[in-house]
Amino acid sequence: MDVFEAMGSARAIRYLKPDPVDPELIEKLIWAATRASSPGNSQGWDFVVITDADAKARIGGAVADAMAGIFREPPADADRSVRLMLNGARALAGSLATAPVLVLVCGRMVYPPGNPDEQLVWSACYPAAQNLIVAARALGLGATFTTFQRRAEQVVRGTLGIPDEVRMAALIPIGWPDREHGPVNRKPVEEVIHWDRW
Ligand SMILES: Cc1cc2nc3c(=O)[nH]c(=O)nc-3n(C[C@H](O)[C@H](O)[C@H](O)COP(=O)(O)O)c2cc1C
Repeated sequence: MDVFEAMGSARAIRYLKPDPVDPELIEKLIWAATRASSPGNSQGWDFVVITDADAKARIGGAVADAMAGIFREPPADADRSVRLMLNGARALAGSLATAPVLVLVCGRMVYPPGNPDEQLVWSACYPAAQNLIVAARALGLGATFTTFQRRAEQVVRGTLGIPDEVRMAALIPIGWPDREHGPVNRKPVEEVIHWDRW
């Protein structure tokens, strides 16, 4: 698939079929993630691929419990896309245990050497995560960028053995989509482009 087509249709896919995903495809996604740029090419990222049913159940249960107190019904006047997004996020948070694969994007404080900067950890992880999302789309896989790991940080660390000094940037559920990919809804370029001056 053409890269522009993949970028333009890499919607958050929050409903996934339970069918397994070939590990080779997951490795291809990690390949794409690790082609991203990072400060000084420091590549301070790591990816934990979670397929173990017990681990997914423990993490999924902790996230669902934490999110239960946060999610409310979408406001009555919310437009359709907001309602779909909130309902989808709630459904996804409640179904992590049955997602075929969860990828936890992690980062280490490695740059600049000698005086590492926390912000540069995130600036390495997010381009990698976006590369992964676009690559998943190109392969026909569904994926959603989430920060659900923040809701259950201790359970995620404990379950996966993530050292305290390692940062956790994103938790990305991946599987064959149970909703269609389609054009992402974004502001038009004319609204955000500034030629030469603000
Ligand atoms: C940093 C970041 C965090 C996100 N966290 C979540 C999340 O926790 N749960 C979720 O369902 N979606 C999450 N998303 C996905 C966005 O909500 C989604 O991409 C956005 O609403 C646009 O929808 P679209 O990608 O389908 O066009 C996150 C996206 C980013 C970039």
